Amino acid sequence: MRRKLAAGNWKMNGLKADLREVAALLTDRPASGCEVLLCPPATLVAAMAMTAAGRIAVGGQDCHAAQSGAHTGDISAQMLKDAGASHVILGHSERRADHGETDAVVRAKTEAALAAGLVAVICLGETETQRDAGETLAVIGAQLEGSLPEGLTGATCVIAYEPVWAIGTGRIPSLDQIAEVHDFLRDRLVARFGAEGATMRLLYGGSVKPSNASEIFATSNVDGALVGGASLKAADFGAIVAAL
Ligand code: G3P
Repeated sequence: MRRKLAAGNWKMNGLKADLREVAALLTDRPASGCEVLLCPPATLVAAMAMTAAGRIAVGGQDCHAAQSGAHTGDISAQMLKDAGASHVILGHSERRADHGETDAVVRAKTEAALAAGLVAVICLGETETQRDAGETLAVIGAQLEGSLPEGLTGATCVIAYEPVWAIGTGRIPSLDQIAEVHDFLRDRLVARFGAEGATMRLLYGGSVKPSNASEIFATSNVDGALVGGASLKAADFGAIVAAL
């Protein structure tokens, strides 16, 4: 009932020339029923949307909570939508760490995204210190509670579980650990949003590669992945898409 989603986060990578990877992905795209989303830096959203021509969804990596105004250097959800985006990543741990984004900020940005008609891809995840201290579920539960506004549906939001210590490190949690968090998230979402909570997709993110994608995707309540480094090249990302 939940369509699988392969999402790529290019982070601060990508110049116009790299759109050839999108073209290659379109040409060589494996036969897979899953939805594919790429989130390039803001400078490439419009050009990528043109290249993707509706065959791959395009998203931003952040937006401001306000629709417009005196916010030098920021981008609104409406602007992303206008540039051709359908999604926006919010609350990524790199935003939380580098820009001090709190759960309340993520919640406000999510509301702005929904108002602009974007699907919010909301990120949650514990640090290694928090996992070692046995605080993972408490941390995830608090982030979920604080970052999600009321009224979300399976069509308007996607949740990405990204353990901070697994991002870009080549380390991933055990499949049991992934299942524990995803099952916990599912229970919490259903408790809060009722039937809609059962339709919200839960992505795993953190060192997903072609070599580990299949086993991660076969894990309980994993509806896809949010992929960083391995989304930059069509060959790698295509293999992950094929594994879904
Ligand atoms: O948002 C995706 C991300 O943080 C995971 O990055 O490079 O470990 O796949 P990576």
